[in-house]
Amino acid sequence: MKPKIIIDCDPGHDDAIAIMMACQLTEILGITTVSGNAPLDLTTDNALLLTELVGLNVEVHAGAEKPLLLPPRHAEEAHGKTGLDGPSRPKVKRSANSSDAVRFIIDTVRDNDDVWLVPIGPLTNVALAVQQAPDIVERVAGISIMGGSATVGNVTATAEFNVWADPHAASIVFSAGLQPFRMAGLNLTHKFGIDEQIITDLRGINNQVADFAADLFDFYLMSYQKRTRGQRVPLHDPCAVLAITHPELFEFELRNVTVETEGVYTRGMTVVDQRGWGDQPLNCEVAYEIDRDRGMQIFLETMETYTVS
Ligand code: BDR
Ligand code: CA
Repeated sequence: MKPKIIIDCDPGHDDAIAIMMACQLTEILGITTVSGNAPLDLTTDNALLLTELVGLNVEVHAGAEKPLLLPPRHAEEAHGKTGLDGPSRPKVKRSANSSDAVRFIIDTVRDNDDVWLVPIGPLTNVALAVQQAPDIVERVAGISIMGGSATVGNVTATAEFNVWADPHAASIVFSAGLQPFRMAGLNLTHKFGIDEQIITDLRGINNQVADFAADLFDFYLMSYQKRTRGQRVPLHDPCAVLAITHPELFEFELRNVTVETEGVYTRGMTVVDQRGWGDQPLNCEVAYEIDRDRGMQIFLETMETYTVS
């Protein structure tokens, strides 16, 4: 049976790929959007566009317009002005089902057994949901996030974008007691890199979803490599989906993870206690290794399952 999930996202090139994969590999109960890579109206429009592209008939609910305490920050340098620059985009026909993503998350978890939360943007909506309805903590099947890092950051030396953008929300979510709690941070996603070959492979598939993904990658590779001086380009958000659907591809370690909300140099850092001793709660399964080749093969196979049009 496919796992039931709610995707909380800020599309975003890699969010888009995560949705395309989740559409085939999971049962998506709904998509919620958050301010992150781009302002909320754009991430919501992008999520709606993606549901139309992949033929996914689920509700889309817009969520938080800004982080809990900080002003909104976006990632135009990585994802362009629209959050999904690159492909030419058809006009979106549908609109969001509501602007209350938090209500949708709460109701869906209460009404369904074994729902996984899959946040792949800043954690504002999920933090508000567990604050407003603490009972959902016990009800979920688990949470699998893309965010944080056990090593380097990307926005700063120590902070990863999704946690950095709303560290107060991340702190609430990491300490809420959600279990299992899987973290695909930068230390992991940097091992799930894409290159020109993947674009060639996508172009060879010949369906409109794969073509759209290839157009996304053309932009994403170019913008990423400009900033990182040619390093391999990590495909972050799909790792949070694969961590549920294909956990055997990963090596996880149970760790205590807390979020720095105040530090002058470290705000937004996930502090991963790697000592392996002490009595701090082991609240997080931190992913350290991924079978990159098998993961990419699964990605390409899911893209092949879309019908040609
Ligand atoms: C994360 O930030 C965003 O730019 C990506 O979509 C991903 O979720 C990586 O730091
Ligand atoms: Ca994202």
